[in-house]
Amino acid sequence: MFTEAQLYSPVTQGADGDVMVHLSDEHPGVHDPEYRTRRNAIAALALDYRPGGPVPQIDYTEEEQGVWRIVSAELARKRERYASREVIEAAERLGLPGDHIPQLDEVTSKLFPRTGFRYAPAAGLVPLREFFGSFSERIFHSTQYIRHHSAPLYTPEPDAVHEILGHANQLASPRFAAIYETVGAAVNRLTTDRALKFLADVFWFSMEFGVVREHGEIRCYGAGLLSSFGEIEEFREATLRPLDIREMGTAVYDITHYQPILYCAESIAEIEDVVGGFFTTVDDEVVAELTGQPV
Ligand SMILES: [Fe+2]
Repeated sequence: MFTEAQLYSPVTQGADGDVMVHLSDEHPGVHDPEYRTRRNAIAALALDYRPGGPVPQIDYTEEEQGVWRIVSAELARKRERYASREVIEAAERLGLPGDHIPQLDEVTSKLFPRTGFRYAPAAGLVPLREFFGSFSERIFHSTQYIRHHSAPLYTPEPDAVHEILGHANQLASPRFAAIYETVGAAVNRLTTDRALKFLADVFWFSMEFGVVREHGEIRCYGAGLLSSFGEIEEFREATLRPLDIREMGTAVYDITHYQPILYCAESIAEIEDVVGGFFTTVDDEVVAELTGQPV
C-alpha cells in the first residue's frame, strides 16, 4: 500500500455492521452500483480478518480477472524495459500468475520461500505504525480489491495491482526485503509522529518511487513506479537528485501527480548503504538532527 492516507477510499462500518467504502466522485467505479457493492463486500472480509486466522479468499469475477490479465501483461512488458535488473530477476523467480489475480495466500506461497514475507489483508489504509511495524515480522498488509474494469490501466487508489505487481515483485528480492525489515525495526524505535512521517517520506522516495542508474540508463525499483502503467514510462522525464536522506524526508510533494523530482541511486548497493543505513540507525534524535528541530 501507499502510506498516504488521502490516496485511500475511506472505509466505515455502521452500528449495524454494514461496511461501506467511500469512493471519490472522480473514481471510475463511483457510479457502478455492482462495483460498489463488491468493494464493500471485499472490505468487510478484510475487517473480519484476525491475525493467525484464514486469509480471506476473494471469488474474483471474470471481469476482474480480465482487468488483471490486461494490466499484468502491460506491466510485464514495461518492467522489462524500465525496471531495475534486481526487480526483473526477482519477478522472474517469483513467477506471479498473469492469467488470474492471485489470492494473498498464493502470493505468500511464492514469496515466503524466497524472502520470508507473508501477505495479510487490509481493507484500506492501515495506520502507519502498524503497516511499517509489521515489516519487522516480514508481514505486508495488502488490499484485495481491483480497479474498475472501465479503466484497466488507471486507478486513483492503490489496489491489488499495486500491492502485488509492485510490492511483491520488489519483495521477492532478498536485498529489498532486508531493507523493508529494517523499516519495521525502525518504527518500533520512533516515538514521535514527526519522526514517523520523516521515515514514511524516505520510504516514499525510495521503496515507492526510487530509481537507480544501471549501465547508463535510469531504471526504477520503487513499487509505485513498477505498478503504474503511465508513470513507469514518464519517470525518465523527472528531475533526478542524488540520494539525500534529509531532502527525501522533508521534501514537499503532491502524491496525486507524477513525481517531478526523483532520487536516483548509482547502484543497489548505494540504496542499501544510504537508505538501508538510515532505516537501520534512525531514531527520534537522528530525525531531530536531520530536520534541525528538537525531538
Ligand atoms: Fe505501496
